[in-house]
Amino acid sequence: MTFQNRKILIGITGSIAAYKIPLLVRLLIKEGAEVKVLMTPAACDFVTPLTLSTLINHPVCIEPFDKATGAWNSHVDLANWADLFLLAPLTANTLAKMATGVTDNLLMATYLAARCPVFFAPAMDLDMYKHPTTQRNIEIVRSFGHTLIEPGSGELASGLYGEGRMEEPEHIAEILSSFFYKSKSFAGKNVLVTAGPTLEAIDPVRFISNHSSGKMGFALAGELSARGANVTLVSGPVSLATPSKNIHRIDVVSASQMLEACKNIAPSANLIIMAAAVADFTPKEIHKTKIKKKQTPSLLELIPTIDILATLGKQKQPHQTIVGFALETDNVLENARMKLQNKNADIIVLNSLSDEGAGFGGSNNKITILDTKGRDTAYELKPKTEVAADIADYIFDFMSRQSA
Ligand code: CTP
Repeated sequence: MTFQNRKILIGITGSIAAYKIPLLVRLLIKEGAEVKVLMTPAACDFVTPLTLSTLINHPVCIEPFDKATGAWNSHVDLANWADLFLLAPLTANTLAKMATGVTDNLLMATYLAARCPVFFAPAMDLDMYKHPTTQRNIEIVRSFGHTLIEPGSGELASGLYGEGRMEEPEHIAEILSSFFYKSKSFAGKNVLVTAGPTLEAIDPVRFISNHSSGKMGFALAGELSARGANVTLVSGPVSLATPSKNIHRIDVVSASQMLEACKNIAPSANLIIMAAAVADFTPKEIHKTKIKKKQTPSLLELIPTIDILATLGKQKQPHQTIVGFALETDNVLENARMKLQNKNADIIVLNSLSDEGAGFGGSNNKITILDTKGRDTAYELKPKTEVAADIADYIFDFMSRQSA
């Protein structure tokens, strides 16, 4: 475990578990981290700012304006300073503010200004933790791409026994350490990711397309960028924001435009991930003017689009790893393995439409990953941001074995 040159900002909120934070701070500093601490006024009832400022060798920030010294604690400076923002212990109250954007203290203003990865470690009584509103807020905050450090089970300060106890400092430190280790795992790698649907025009106002939202491809692009990759994201029409300003995004509309963009970028890519739901057919002719209702064609003649994955698979170079996606409804494993072979891919991520809550449009996905080594690994239903992390872990392991 090392935190050499890492800047960690810890936000403490008003829970009894705050007494464990000085231990965490000591651990992080011992392993090389630079730590700054933000506290809500309520947190000061559980642990003293003096204890923490002595340990971190920085003043502890509580209010935007420190009346005693006249100093202004800039939330933007604090947010920009951090490589990682950990909210621990996190109360149900501050969790709800994170989910809704209520900004009534310095900690919340800093949270909203932070662009770095955010981890949160809830601590509360078991009924508060289980309450639907808390669970919903956790899901909302996770959907922002933040990482939940799940509370453990055990005796709670209230005397009740169950889930809600903040994770122990040693384990929190391990989680952060493994995150920093991963954050470098794709450094120096050029990655091409495709995402979203393609739109195949019939005339200037009509098109053929599919229900792909682009969420899976965007989550992957974000995850790989966070792990140090130099990501180019080629996206069909979607209504999603680019997950990081470090990602180079190219917007396309049709399958042929996506093919052209990919052919230009692929030669310099170490890793190619084809998460787009490329249309398999396109109208043979695009009408130049809108087809009038009275001229309704009795037949729409379609021709196949070029398979981008198979094209890049044919041109695969020794330094490249190619990952395809497969959406299957029957004989799922056999069909996916066939795609792996036919398209000369190294890895196929299989989505099954029959899994409830998974697939197109939604925020969750359930995948099985197959590779050319004959392995297939099934995963649980998870938010797409977490699925992206599983896929990135798998690819990292696969690429490490290839180069070993
Ligand atoms: N794909 C592609 N170009 C196409 C069609 C698909 O690059 N013209 C890629 C997708 O991005 C995905 C993979 O091929 O990574 C598999 O897509 P899928 O729709 O499951 O399979 P198809 O090859 O289209 O075959 P089928 O529809 O018959 O299952």
